[in-house]
Amino acid sequence: MEQKKIPGGEAALKPPVEARYKKELEALAALDAGPRPANWRLSPKAVRTFILGSRKPVSWNGEELVIRKKYLGNDALVERCIITLAGNRGLMLVGEPGTAKTMLSELLSAAISGNSTNTIQGTAGTTEDMIKYSWNYALLLAKGPVREALVPSPLYVGMEQGILTRFEEITRTPAEIQDSLISVLSDKVLNVPELGEEGLLFAKPGFNVIGTANTRDKGVNEMSSALKRRFNFETVMPVRDVAMEKEIIVHEVESLALESGISMPVEEDVAELLASTYHELREGVSSLGHRIDRPAAVMSTAEAVSVYFQTMMTAYYYGDSHMDMGCLVENLVGAIQKENGEDLEKLRLYSDPMVSLGKVYQLEKAMEEALSRHVWLRSGGYLVIDPTESMTVIDVNTGKYTGRKNLHDTIMKINLEAAGEISRQLRLRNLSGIIVVDFIDMESEEDKKLLLKTLSAYCLADPVKTTVVDITKLNLVEITRKKIRRPLYEQAGKRR
Ligand SMILES: Nc1ncnc2c1ncn2[C@@H]1O[C@H](COP(=O)(O)OP(=O)(O)OP(=O)(O)O)[C@@H](O)[C@H]1O
Ligand SMILES: [Mg+2]
Repeated sequence: MEQKKIPGGEAALKPPVEARYKKELEALAALDAGPRPANWRLSPKAVRTFILGSRKPVSWNGEELVIRKKYLGNDALVERCIITLAGNRGLMLVGEPGTAKTMLSELLSAAISGNSTNTIQGTAGTTEDMIKYSWNYALLLAKGPVREALVPSPLYVGMEQGILTRFEEITRTPAEIQDSLISVLSDKVLNVPELGEEGLLFAKPGFNVIGTANTRDKGVNEMSSALKRRFNFETVMPVRDVAMEKEIIVHEVESLALESGISMPVEEDVAELLASTYHELREGVSSLGHRIDRPAAVMSTAEAVSVYFQTMMTAYYYGDSHMDMGCLVENLVGAIQKENGEDLEKLRLYSDPMVSLGKVYQLEKAMEEALSRHVWLRSGGYLVIDPTESMTVIDVNTGKYTGRKNLHDTIMKINLEAAGEISRQLRLRNLSGIIVVDFIDMESEEDKKLLLKTLSAYCLADPVKTTVVDITKLNLVEITRKKIRRPLYEQAGKRR
C-alpha cells in the first residue's frame, strides 16, 4: 500500500498516534516477518509488540529503538482485541471513563491501518448520514448523484480503503441510528441507492469497526441485541495497581510536559500520593483497611493525570517550578466537584494539603492508642491507665505471662519496661498532678531501688518537671508532674 502523508505532523497540538510513533511503526513494519491479515500494516504479533512493548530494544536504521509499553493492564485483553479485529466481528471496548478505551482504539487503528483518525464521534445528535454518507449539494445540483458529489463518512472510507473505522462513544447515539451499522457489519456492504448500479460498496479486506462505549453514560443495554451480536465486547477495567497507576501518571505527565514545552521533572512521590489517593477513593478502602465513602465522581487514571498536569502547569507558570500540594488538592477537589457537590464532604479529609488519607488514618490510630485505657508492653505485660479527679492511677500487669521459670526476672523485666513506657505515656497524654503507679510486687529491696532509679532517670528526661516521690510499703510509686497543658483525653473531649 502506498505510504500516505500523515496529517497533523510534528506541529499539531496533539499529533495522531501514527505520527507520534512513526519511527516505532516503521521499524516494526520493516522487521515484521509474521503472517498478517490482508491489508494490515503489521502482523498481529507486531501490533501486540507496539501496544505492549518489547522486552529488548529493536535495532533499526542503525538505531536502538525502545518500544515502550503503552497500555498498562491486561495484556490478554489486548491480544483478544487484535484477534477480534482480524475476524469478521467488530470490537466494542466498554468500561468506566478514563480507562484508556480511546487510547487503545487509537493504538490499534494506528498499528493495523496506519490511520487512527478515521473516526465517527457519537453524540446524541449523530445522524444516519454521518454514519453512512452525505452529499455535497453544490456538486449534487451541478452533476447529479455521482460518486464525486458523495461525501463519504469514516465508515465509507474504512470500507473503501480497507482500514479500521473508529466509532467513539457509540452508545451516545440514538439506538435506531446505531442500527444502521448492522447491515454493514454483517454483509460488509453499503448500498447507496442514489448511485444506481454503481451504488454497492463492498468493503475491502482490512475493514472493521472499533467502537467505544462508556458504562457511566447512557447504557450499553440500550444497544439493540442485533447490533450487539455483531461485536465482540471487551470490558476495559480501571488500573487496580497503585504502582502501575503511578507509572501511568509519571509517563503521561512527562509526555504532556514535553509537548507543552514545560521543563519540569515529574515528582515521583507526588505521583505516588496521587495514585494511592485515587486508588483508595475508587476502591472505598484506605491502605490501612478503613472504609471510605466512595465519591460518585469518576476516579479515573485519566483524571489523576490531568490533576497532576494542571498542578504542574500552575507551578511552572506562577510558582517556583515545585509542585504545590495545596494546589494539587484544589485541583483534585475541582475534578471531583464537577460531578457531584456531595462528594466534597467525602473528601473532607483531604483538606489538609500535607496529609494523605493514609496518614490521617495513622494519626487517628495513634490518637486512639493514646486515649486507650490499655497499653501493651513488648514483654507481654500491659498498663491500665485510669485518670481520676484527684490523681491518675496506673496499674502494671504481667498480662499473658504464665511461665513459672524465672518469675523474678520476668517481673523485673516488665516493671522496668513499664517504667519507660509510663514516662512516655505521661508526656503523650499530658498527664499531671499526682500519679500513683502500682508496679508488680517485688520482694527484694534491691529490685525496688533499681526500679526507682530507672523510673527517676526516665522522668529526668521529661521536659516537664516530674518527680518520683517514693515507694510505699504496698509497692505503690508516687510521681508528681507539673501541669502545663490540659490532658489529652480532655482535649479530645473524651473521658476514659
Ligand atoms: N491502563 C492504562 N494504560 C495506560 N494509560 C492509561 C491506562 N488507563 C488510563 N490511562 C491514561 O488515561 C488516558 C485515558 O484516556 P482515554 O480517553 O483513552 O480513556 P477512555 O476510556 O476513552 O475514557 P472516556 O470513556 O472518558 O472516553 C490515557 O490517555 C492514558 O493517559
Ligand atoms: Mg474515550
